Amino acid sequence: MLDVKGLNTEYFTRRGDTIRAVRDVSFEVGKGKFFTLLGPSGCGKTTTLRSIAGLERPLSGEIAVNGRLVFSSKRGVFVALNKRNATVTSNEKWTLNQLVSNGYLAGTVSGNPD
Ligand SMILES: Nc1ncnc2c1ncn2[C@@H]1O[C@H](COP(=O)(O)OP(=O)(O)OP(=O)(O)O)[C@@H](O)[C@H]1O
Ligand SMILES: [Mg+2]
Repeated sequence: MLDVKGLNTEYFTRRGDTIRAVRDVSFEVGKGKFFTLLGPSGCGKTTTLRSIAGLERPLSGEIAVNGRLVFSSKRGVFVALNKRNATVTSNEKWTLNQLVSNGYLAGTVSGNPD
């Protein structure tokens, strides 16, 4: 179970610019469910996943994994990435079936093999 609420993640560039990569994103993924983030390049998919994994520190919002709060700006919670029970894989060259057969995703994918 994954619960993301009002997530905002920004990048600060060396030139002093602020990039609002993720703006007010909320979604829930039930236990054992498969969930896809879909959207145009640069819309913040990778940043959302990096925030869930603990690779980025969001500006605000809340993230709970299996009922455990791993990030909350309001409550000052930020669990280190090695203490989160979350794995993020990003390999855009792999098909769903390749992800499953290499053990990154549980379950089976039916239909067209690619
Ligand atoms: N390390 C970074 N420093 C500064 N800006 C970044 C950084 N990483 C991503 N961004 C910017 O944050 C925004 C969201 O990028 P992100 O990589 O999360 O999008 P994405 O949806 O995964 O895109 P793609 O489909 O191309 O993988 C973009 O404007 C991107 O340029
Ligand atoms: Mg990406």
